[in-house]
Amino acid sequence: MRAATADRYGSPDVITVGEIDRPSVGPDDVLVAVRAAAVNPYDWHMLTGTPLFVRAVSGLRRPKQKVLGVDVAGVVEAVGADVTDLGAGDEVFGGAVGAFAEYAVAKEDRLVRKPANITFEEAAAVTVAALTAVQGLRDHGTVERGQHVLVNGAAGGVGTYAVQLAEYFGAEVTAVCSTRNVDMVRDLGADHVVDYTSDDFTVDREYDVILDNIGNRNIAQLKRCLAPTGTYVVIGGPKGRVLGPATQMIKAIAGFKIGSRRAVSFTAQRSRSDLELFRELLENGELRTVIDTVYPLEDAAEALRHLETGHARGKIVVIP
Ligand SMILES: NC(=O)c1ccc[n+]([C@@H]2O[C@H](COP(=O)([O-])OP(=O)(O)OC[C@H]3O[C@@H](n4cnc5c(N)ncnc54)[C@H](OP(=O)(O)O)[C@@H]3O)[C@@H](O)[C@H]2O)c1
Repeated sequence: MRAATADRYGSPDVITVGEIDRPSVGPDDVLVAVRAAAVNPYDWHMLTGTPLFVRAVSGLRRPKQKVLGVDVAGVVEAVGADVTDLGAGDEVFGGAVGAFAEYAVAKEDRLVRKPANITFEEAAAVTVAALTAVQGLRDHGTVERGQHVLVNGAAGGVGTYAVQLAEYFGAEVTAVCSTRNVDMVRDLGADHVVDYTSDDFTVDREYDVILDNIGNRNIAQLKRCLAPTGTYVVIGGPKGRVLGPATQMIKAIAGFKIGSRRAVSFTAQRSRSDLELFRELLENGELRTVIDTVYPLEDAAEALRHLETGHARGKIVVIP
């Protein structure tokens, strides 16, 4: 099968596309014929091996997992002996290993059926970004109906789902993005939009929950715009070789120690029940995917370079 692989850590230049063996299928595995895969900052971290501490998991000297991609949508090709819910021919989306390829393996509990009313590209985009958004808002931000939520980085992968999910939870939503994305985030349901090229979201208003995909504001500024019992949820932060996004997380946890405001950080967890929630919302039109660009597998490196700019509008997708 054809796959995009990286044998060593580096920039997108180290990605090669070529023939490799199809992955083998264990008893509880599902083999998916990939129709689309989404690009996430996670893939970029795995590709570059940064921040350096990720190598404790991804491989000290070189990547253990050579085929990139963890978000998939496709058609079940074969299943292992212990798989009970899914069978050949089922259309699915969810989390997989090595999704930038013609075939990828996934555990059954990481996949759900794809709604018939959306494309494979739209379905592939959902998993990591929407899991991060829903868990950040609901589980870590404990957002409640009527609360005021600010999404910093509202135009990206996590942000476009977060705006819609915050609306779904009944919040009043302020989205922060640049000028070219103002209409798009408004169209996703944002009640207010702050264009960061001309305005500063840390003045004038107080928020109950700040979901921060960017991590570009200091703690004093964040405290200024957070309600006295508000929660700052750190999702992302600056790139960097040693600590990377963890820099903002460490600063926030330390900076919010005193006082009634909280700061939390987390890594999104696999959750079949959340995938089922997304399936339902996608089916009834309450959640939709914004796709920036779809790249052929041969251009997987270009897809990663695009993500690297930090200005994707919604999701970047790769198709084999
Ligand atoms: N903790 C976790 O489990 C977890 C999971 C997933 C992702 N993450 C992290 O969350 C972050 C966001 O991920 P993502 O997939 O949404 O990334 P992404 O799609 O690459 O985000 C790109 C978006 O960031 C916006 N942006 C760039 N600079 C901005 C600024 N100064 N102010 C406001 N918005 C700005 C851009 O909007 P404009 O073009 O309008 O500037 C663009 O739409 C990343 O750091 C990622 O590593 C964490």
